[in-house]
Amino acid sequence: MQDIRNIVVLTGAGISAESGIATFRGPGGLWEGHRVEDVCTPEALADDPALVHAFYDARRAALARVTPNPAHLALARLDEEWGGGLLIVTQNVDDLHERAGARRLLHMHGALQSALCAACGVRRRWPGALPPGSICPDCGAAALRPDIVFFGEMPYAMDRIEHALGSADLFVSIGTSGAVYPAAGFVQRARQAGARTLELNLERSAGSAWFDETRLGPAGTLVPAWVETLLAP
Ligand code: APR
Repeated sequence: MQDIRNIVVLTGAGISAESGIATFRGPGGLWEGHRVEDVCTPEALADDPALVHAFYDARRAALARVTPNPAHLALARLDEEWGGGLLIVTQNVDDLHERAGARRLLHMHGALQSALCAACGVRRRWPGALPPGSICPDCGAAALRPDIVFFGEMPYAMDRIEHALGSADLFVSIGTSGAVYPAAGFVQRARQAGARTLELNLERSAGSAWFDETRLGPAGTLVPAWVETLLAP
């Protein structure tokens, strides 16, 4: 793999599926029994803060019952051993990548174990329950909300992601349906930059046509095999 130096990896809900975390667009199109619009929009938060806060409290509490799977562990190994550039961009709000040991990691859609102050904009680690009206320790406003990027809101760190995509030699998408922008457009941006593009997913996705190669199967099998090949001497 001498021609590859800079790698960008995009992960989605599929990489955490084998750890027992439900994907968003599973059977019935429901996420843990809810329509995504009812728990993942600014309007939902304004209309029914108790429901939205309770929903993310439950997701946060559920993290204690799951562990990283071989796909997370393989990416952490890649992070540890890859001497070139690497950025793992996850759309997931769980903490399984970091618990596996990944460090060159960005949560573009926020994180369950973080709270965002709607008044002052400060983000802080928040491992426990977050009832509506929780007080921001920084500004004193009763304005803490789940630090989740809702539909219609700007994902985090787009400048850093754009920079990494612009110099990528290889772009790899793992376990994402390619249904949600801007992440769904990263493959095209990477292609423009001249990167080779590889998709690892259980089934063909909305974006499969954009990839040089798609490998179908469970992430827990495909990702360790890909990392092994990449790191082979
Ligand atoms: N291994 C690999 N891929 C899998 C596995 C698995 N074990 N299980 C499921 N998948 C695939 C599915 O086939 C699907 O293509 O993972 C993909 C998951 O797609 P989504 O549920 O749409 O999740 P994602 O693409 O991460 O959603 C993007 O949408 O609701 C928003 O903000 C939310 O970050 C989320 C974004």
